[in-house]
Amino acid sequence: MKIVPSILNANLLYLSSDLAKLEEADIEMIHVDIMDGSFVPNISFGPSFVEKIAEETTLKQDVHLMVQDPDQIVDDILEFQPEGITIHYEASSHCFQLLDKIKSHGVKAGIAINPGTSYETVEAAIMIADRVLVMTVNPGFGGQKFIKPMLHKVRKLDLTRQINQYAYQIEVDGGVNDETILACCDAQADEFVVGSYIFNGDPLAQIETLNKKLSE
Ligand code: DX5
Ligand code: ZN
Repeated sequence: MKIVPSILNANLLYLSSDLAKLEEADIEMIHVDIMDGSFVPNISFGPSFVEKIAEETTLKQDVHLMVQDPDQIVDDILEFQPEGITIHYEASSHCFQLLDKIKSHGVKAGIAINPGTSYETVEAAIMIADRVLVMTVNPGFGGQKFIKPMLHKVRKLDLTRQINQYAYQIEVDGGVNDETILACCDAQADEFVVGSYIFNGDPLAQIETLNKKLSE
């Protein structure tokens, strides 16, 4: 089980010292949300930010593409060899092709689903995914309320992976904090993206609280 801090709600003016704190907290990977103002009503970072982070830290990058046309941008991110790139099922017209392309570069290929997209819709795509990201808020902003019924999808994904011996990691993203992380863990999610809960306080202390919850 892994906590994956999302830097969307970090204060970017202090990012390098925050990244050092995450390293100190034994975090292995951060979550980088790329938003285009079209697929979601917010604009965040672009590929050059992924490059800058790679120069600054040894933390791996889990890149979450919330863009209308992932095919257009994916090459620019593959260049910097993040740990993984996750595309939205709702945004990709040929998701098998794109997932294969990401994998062919030695980068983990993830498929994300919005709260309004059913598990059944992505049943085929998850066969080849290295990661399935279940959005537990509507994508676009940090600090939103966790949508609990999404855990049903997490449980189904876990069951499907057991039955078929699929190898994907299940990641939850949105509204994960000290009150909701245990339910995600119980539903068998493997990776917990946590944004505002970590960066609205002292990252080291907040991560310690989450780790304690997970070991309860
Ligand atoms: C939301 C992003 C998330 C966001 C999570 O669309 O995909 O990664 O940063 O932030 P919190 O943890 O505050 O919900
Ligand atoms: Zn995200």
